[in-house]
Amino acid sequence: MISHVQLILLILAIISYYGHESIAQYIPPFTSLVAPVAKHTDSANPLYSAQIMTKYVNSQFIHTNFLIDMEAPFTWYDCVVQWNIYPGSCPGNTVCLSPVSCEEYQCTDVRTSTLDHYSSCPPVTNSSTLPGWGFCSCPVTFVNPITGSCGEALLNYDELWFNGTNGRIAFPDFMGVYPNSACAPSSAFESFPKNVSGVLAMSSSPHALPANLFGVIRRSFALCLPTSTSSPGVLILGSSPYYLDSHSDVDVRSFLSYTPLLNNIQDTFGYYIGVNTIVIRKRSINVPPNATTKISTLVPYTTLRTDIYKQVVRRFSKVTKRLQPTKLVAPFGLCFKIFTNGTRAGLKVPDIDFGLGNGMKWSVSTANSMKQMTQDVWCLAFVDGGVTSEHVIVLGTFQMEDNFLLFDLVNSSLGFSSSLLNKGTSCASFNFTGV
Ligand SMILES: *[C@@H]1O[C@H](CO)[C@@H](O)[C@H](O)[C@H]1NC(C)=O
Ligand SMILES: *[C@@H]1O[C@H](CO)[C@@H](O)[C@H](O)[C@H]1NC(C)=O
Ligand SMILES: *[C@@H]1O[C@H](CO)[C@@H](O)[C@H](O)[C@H]1NC(C)=O
Ligand SMILES: *[C@@H]1O[C@H](CO)[C@@H](O)[C@H](O)[C@H]1NC(C)=O
Ligand SMILES: *[C@@H]1O[C@H](CO)[C@@H](O)[C@H](O)[C@H]1NC(C)=O
Ligand SMILES: *[C@@H]1O[C@H](CO)[C@@H](O)[C@H](O)[C@H]1NC(C)=O
Ligand SMILES: *[C@@H]1O[C@H](CO)[C@@H](O)[C@H](O)[C@H]1NC(C)=O
Repeated sequence: MISHVQLILLILAIISYYGHESIAQYIPPFTSLVAPVAKHTDSANPLYSAQIMTKYVNSQFIHTNFLIDMEAPFTWYDCVVQWNIYPGSCPGNTVCLSPVSCEEYQCTDVRTSTLDHYSSCPPVTNSSTLPGWGFCSCPVTFVNPITGSCGEALLNYDELWFNGTNGRIAFPDFMGVYPNSACAPSSAFESFPKNVSGVLAMSSSPHALPANLFGVIRRSFALCLPTSTSSPGVLILGSSPYYLDSHSDVDVRSFLSYTPLLNNIQDTFGYYIGVNTIVIRKRSINVPPNATTKISTLVPYTTLRTDIYKQVVRRFSKVTKRLQPTKLVAPFGLCFKIFTNGTRAGLKVPDIDFGLGNGMKWSVSTANSMKQMTQDVWCLAFVDGGVTSEHVIVLGTFQMEDNFLLFDLVNSSLGFSSSLLNKGTSCASFNFTGV
């Protein structure tokens, strides 16, 4: 599966970093890679990005922030493709990469596998040639996850660099991952949060980042979204123990319950789980057996199809009788006036449990169910997805913050922790300062 160019890049990368040591066989001193995850609130909805090293210049890496997307078929970002990358040919802050030509199998591969995904976009052509050798490049279609508009980017041979980790601290050692990504013009990122200029495909697509993990780095990743914009959460590729507090001996895996990951549903590359009931204080709301529950890092609040939403709101009002309902704040359907002196301390509502068939439940407790709108107004942070919504449930980011999620693509399982706050830690506790 690995192309010549990728292989050469890989060898060069290893030689360039470990050249000073005589290493016959490279075995990295870690089994996982790590990236900080930032929360951005300068967009209509909160969005989350991973910080990745994209270019080595003047003995330092340039870092780029990539929007985390669980459905994108491939990664694309603000970079340019160039046939001849010789020293000095690539301006300082620009990331320059080798193009995939329209005649290479990778081009056909990416185009074919994304055909259904982007059927609403105009078809791509081979018209583009590049200065240099004059060969054709490989334009591919992308959909901007923020505006929904179609765009065209040029497929490349990418090199994304991550620091290694033992699951406890970030090492200064790094390792490359080599997917075929695509370079889009800077204008494609105008609608993005400030300082975010890429989309990181974390989907189950054969061209997304997880599919490009191999060897000692297991095809698996952990995602822990932060609540605050000031302390980063964490994305960990590969498998290892996970310690969110470097002084703790508690492996986060001991907090996890598992449920099967159902992917490749309805021609998408997203991740789905089987929720068959929503339980609020011992009363169950049944979810139809053929219904799908999608996990999204772009949807801000969990959306429920109208029939389910209404039952959840009715039941939740019943179990929160002591709270005083108040005027609704869009997009929510149940809000309360609560005098908590502007803090979440003291506010405690019953859990909303998502029952997952095999007896496991994902508990949504106060921190992930109640959104503070003003000093005294709090709303149930679930949204009505409409009568005909494609997915009965779309799990959104407000419910994922400070929850540890382990997507294991080898075992097709999702490990989930429910709120880490109830376990005395948070997604912002990973130690990036390292050694
Ligand atoms: C933009 O992002 C890069 C990479 O994460 C970071 O090094 C830089 O400080 C950021 N700049 C601003 C103004 O936030
Ligand atoms: C682009 O060129 C390649 C190689 O010549 C060819 O196989 C492919 O069908 C062309 N694609 C389009 C959309 O014209
Ligand atoms: C990787 O490690 C180096 C050295 O410790 C550090 O300067 C850099 O910020 C780290 N990169 C990321 C993305 O965490
Ligand atoms: C789901 O099941 C319901 C009734 O059990 C049926 O009416 C509906 O067509 C099914 N939907 C799909 C997508 O299979
Ligand atoms: C409410 O908060 C303010 C400022 O944070 C503080 O001065 C005041 O004592 C608090 N009142 C109560 C009843 O806790
Ligand atoms: C993967 O699944 C197998 C069999 O179900 C299990 O023994 C193993 O522990 C799982 N591995 C991980 C890393 O979860
Ligand atoms: C992070 O790790 C370093 C190196 O092990 C350690 O010195 C430091 O105290 C840790 N920081 C925190 C906040 O735990």
